[in-house]
Amino acid sequence: MKFKVNSYHFKLLRDFERLSAFKEAIDDYAKSGMGKSPVGSRVAFDLGCGSGVLSYFACPHMDRIIAIELNNSSYQLAKENLKEFDKIQVFNDDILSFDFSKLNEKADLIICEMLDTALIDEEEVPVLNHAKKYLKDDGKIIPEGIINSAEAVFMNNHFIQYEDDEYSPVYIVLGGSIIYSEFNFLDDIDCNFSAMIDLKIYDENELMEMGFEEEISNERFEKFDFKDNFNIKENKLKINGIKITSFTKLNEKIICGPTPMMNPSMLVPIEEIDVNCGDTVRIKLEYVMGGGVETIKTEILDIIHN
Ligand SMILES: C[S@@+](CC[C@H](N)C(=O)[O-])C[C@H]1O[C@@H](n2cnc3c(N)ncnc32)[C@H](O)[C@@H]1O
Repeated sequence: MKFKVNSYHFKLLRDFERLSAFKEAIDDYAKSGMGKSPVGSRVAFDLGCGSGVLSYFACPHMDRIIAIELNNSSYQLAKENLKEFDKIQVFNDDILSFDFSKLNEKADLIICEMLDTALIDEEEVPVLNHAKKYLKDDGKIIPEGIINSAEAVFMNNHFIQYEDDEYSPVYIVLGGSIIYSEFNFLDDIDCNFSAMIDLKIYDENELMEMGFEEEISNERFEKFDFKDNFNIKENKLKINGIKITSFTKLNEKIICGPTPMMNPSMLVPIEEIDVNCGDTVRIKLEYVMGGGVETIKTEILDIIHN
């Protein structure tokens, strides 16, 4: 099957890890028996269908697929790509105002890949909050949910940076990874997110184990004078950011870390502070899921010495 795509969807299709994770999850759903609906009445919604690739993966298993795409040029391409499949109907609409009741049927399966790191910059959560009213009681969502983690870092720039296939921010991780939130998309999710996170800074042994001194001598740090910010002999470090990493739970057995085009890790600046090895830094992290990165707020609440 050849897909006609624009440059954005070309990059999405070239990300084989992302595609194979979704394909496997859709095939697993089919193998699991697909709920209670009798053959002939199995319906899927593909929300934010883009090029239509996920509808194409679901097509052999379902009896009817409703694919919805906001962007007109992507919609045109999806329509063209999927034209041979009579059971797929493509709509050019904003899902947030789409009237699902006019379909007169609920979905057995919702597929929705509107993912972005911590679900901040895309509309996965508001879209699912709206659409899942039209999911059957035993219906499933792919992906099933998301797990978010944070680490303390010292980074080169004081603005939000994504570590994606085109850009590599310069930073050093200075503490262990903490899982700070986990969502199941079948639940009603409040888009306004707020959490207190205790970021544990590495102790001296952990710094030694990670080869901290050699690490900051690495040539990628030269331009940014990283060394000047640390006094290793006195175990004094600085942090000025957090690295957020999201893990996508496609189903019970497939959990997918960042891929080139899905949930690249994100570096968020925080107030620059001096810390000692082994300290715990308590921060407040707030954002609106689906509200964009400009909604991210951070505040340092406390530094707890060990
Ligand atoms: C990350 S892309 C995924 C595309 C495709 N499902 C895939 O996996 O290749 C997300 C798509 O959702 C669409 N989208 C975003 N917000 C939307 C909305 N409110 N209603 C409909 N489509 C939307 C975007 O235009 C984009 O094509």
